[in-house]
Amino acid sequence: MTTAREVAQRIVSGRGLPEETAGRGRAPANIALVKYWGKRDEELNLPVTGSLSISLGPLGSEVEVSPAEGPHDAIWLNSAPQPLTGVFARRASAYLDLFRPAPGYWYEVKARNTVPTAAGFASSASGFAAMARALDDLYGWGLSIRELSVLARLGSGSAARSLQDGFVEWHAGSAPDGMDSYGERLPAEWPELRMGAVVLCAAEKPVGSREGMKRSVETCEFYREWPGRVAADLAALKDAIARKDMAALGTVTEGNALAMHALMAATRPPIVYALPETVAAMRTVWAARQEGLPLWFTMDAGPNVKLLFEAKDEARVRGLFPGVQVVAPFG
Ligand code: PMV
Repeated sequence: MTTAREVAQRIVSGRGLPEETAGRGRAPANIALVKYWGKRDEELNLPVTGSLSISLGPLGSEVEVSPAEGPHDAIWLNSAPQPLTGVFARRASAYLDLFRPAPGYWYEVKARNTVPTAAGFASSASGFAAMARALDDLYGWGLSIRELSVLARLGSGSAARSLQDGFVEWHAGSAPDGMDSYGERLPAEWPELRMGAVVLCAAEKPVGSREGMKRSVETCEFYREWPGRVAADLAALKDAIARKDMAALGTVTEGNALAMHALMAATRPPIVYALPETVAAMRTVWAARQEGLPLWFTMDAGPNVKLLFEAKDEARVRGLFPGVQVVAPFG
């Protein structure tokens, strides 16, 4: 089995310029329209299926990495020092382990999320993508987007989709070392498209995505149906994007999210992220659609809802969801 450090070193060894004093990188957050749920390799974050997301433009992460004195990494998030035993610092240091030139080599990481706090947009994808870019800048590796995507994926699967703007497809790939599992931008623009975040609960999710997807792969009796469903949804979504067909995009996106949540519910022990408020928001969307409003939703591993609509309908959407944070992914 290939380890994550072997993959990282295979990509970066023998490259680069003398180390700079600091490297910087930024990356957008992304929301999957066709979801990733299930790994074929836990260590390398290799997915069972492909997936397709939309990047959130200016919302994401900025990271600065520099060599540090030690005797441990110094990790900052939004100007606050992070306790070394906390989840954020542990994940960041474990990722840096893939790149240290020698044991006992330390880094200082200053991460800043440009996603409004508690906006319900995940920041781990943009965080690892920005970190891969910052390391590339620090060491002058000059990596391609595809190589950066592979490196970002080693931190968090969905980070493979956060190296580019617009619509990004993460190819599942089939190579055991995952070199063919990376994100690629689709040649499509959709300036009128809007995404809205409806925050219903900002509390920590009860089951993380890593644990949740492992449990689904191992115990959900419908999991074997999932790859076929994703293949059909990916084809339909790419067709909808090429034609700029909002109803088709919304139908595939909402249906795929509900299918993923059905898998979660059929996992043992069951995983249900929806709260009563989540179900109420879904019903509001369906009722509005009955009234003729072209509005759809998607949901990730949490209770919050993301809305999809076009710019012309923004005022009506804001009327239904007064606290919604609206993003224009194409600027
Ligand atoms: O990359 P992770 O481990 O944060 O998993 C992401 C899982 C979902 O957000 C539920 C789906 C997706 O494709 O982003």
